[in-house]
Amino acid sequence: MANKKSQDLMDKLVSLCKRRGFIFQSSEIYGGINSCWDYGPLGVELKNNIKQCWWKSMTQFRDDIEGLDASILMHPQVWVTSGHVASFADPMVDCKNCKMRFRAEEVQGTKCPNCGGELTEARQFNLMFKTHMGPVEDDASMVYLRPETAQGIYVNFLNVLSPSRQKPPFGIAQIGKAFRNEISPGNFIFRSREFEQMEMQFFINPKEDDKWIEYWKEERMKWYHSLGIKKENLRFHQHDKKELAFYAKMAFDIEYNFPFGWKEIEGIHNRTDYDLSRHTQASGKDLSYYDDQTKERYIPYIIETSAGVDRSLLVCLLDAYHEEVVKDEERTVLKLDPKIAPIKAGVYPLVKRENMPEIAKKIEDLLRPHFKVFYDEGGAIGRRYRRQDEVGTPFGITVDSQTLQDQTVTLRERDSMEQVRVKIDELVGVLKKKIWGN
Ligand code: GAP
Repeated sequence: MANKKSQDLMDKLVSLCKRRGFIFQSSEIYGGINSCWDYGPLGVELKNNIKQCWWKSMTQFRDDIEGLDASILMHPQVWVTSGHVASFADPMVDCKNCKMRFRAEEVQGTKCPNCGGELTEARQFNLMFKTHMGPVEDDASMVYLRPETAQGIYVNFLNVLSPSRQKPPFGIAQIGKAFRNEISPGNFIFRSREFEQMEMQFFINPKEDDKWIEYWKEERMKWYHSLGIKKENLRFHQHDKKELAFYAKMAFDIEYNFPFGWKEIEGIHNRTDYDLSRHTQASGKDLSYYDDQTKERYIPYIIETSAGVDRSLLVCLLDAYHEEVVKDEERTVLKLDPKIAPIKAGVYPLVKRENMPEIAKKIEDLLRPHFKVFYDEGGAIGRRYRRQDEVGTPFGITVDSQTLQDQTVTLRERDSMEQVRVKIDELVGVLKKKIWGN
């Protein structure tokens, strides 16, 4: 149960997200649609930066993972083969009186938590969204919106293997939308019906599964640390037999200490040869691998790392949110890692005189090819700084009277609020080093 302080934090964050253009409820002018969210100007920058960090860590900084972007709509047989048609379901109960629907596990007793009415027996409810392809709406034209991106990787195993000249151990990474008709969405963007996943499937020799699951557990935890998430707010949770998905031999969640409790942000699973075996049987295409060197043929095991983009973003925001009192004044500051901050620097003329706006505009032009920056000349400088602190902008560059004499500006750091003088023509290099370390 969330306590008052935790609920306050969520309320404040949701309000900041709306007010400052991070996240809006979908179709708000029509009253909104439950559990769908739109990312505004700052939200989409933050989201893209998080995805970029993941994508680079998987496909650029290492040579054993290839990228993929598979379509959302897939052959319906894929979801039969994967087991989703038969078992991607939650038991749920309906209230006969108010018609509300609940997860059976959430309801204590036999009465509706909303109105006290009588509940139906628990029934299986498949979480996949269905639609139709082509002009005729019949069973033959039915397709699903993918509930995970992983299957797009499995069915492309051979397509990626040959052109990339990879061999196990190697991985395929993908970022994309997934859809689940969740019975109880909620907690802002934590559980929604349309969300994004960053999934990587690592294909290995079955004999090496213990080694690789340990390896990926560590790598993935390091990735959250690299985004600046506090270590004490992250932990592993190992699935016991009851929790294990039908396809998994071993599974760990990375959990975050949300205001509403410790919850999963990423799953790391040993899926064995389940996926490639099932697709081999159902498609008739041999998805085994022959190792020329060891003369061994095997169906690769898969170690999967499956992270939610939206949950990662929520974690970054929550972890970064601070309220502080500085010189008797309150400020709200998002201490986002500079790598993921939506805007990297604010550019300000101290006053709207003495050529300062013109010089500041030139600095804006100098920085724009390298960073997303924001020019602001209105109001007291302290207020301008605080507006950018609230959205996590890590640096402030101010043109003042000394600039007119020696071509230097003040560079203010968001967290320490310390200011140093930097030469204008060294700004790009200094900022690059501070943001990306090079
Ligand atoms: N391919 C494996 C798979 O999809 P999952 O544990 O069902 O595993 C992986 O999902 C991640 O996707 C979760 O850890 C979470 O971050 C994200 N996710 C799942 N359902 C979600 C939802 N309804 N809303 C937002 N994110 C979700």
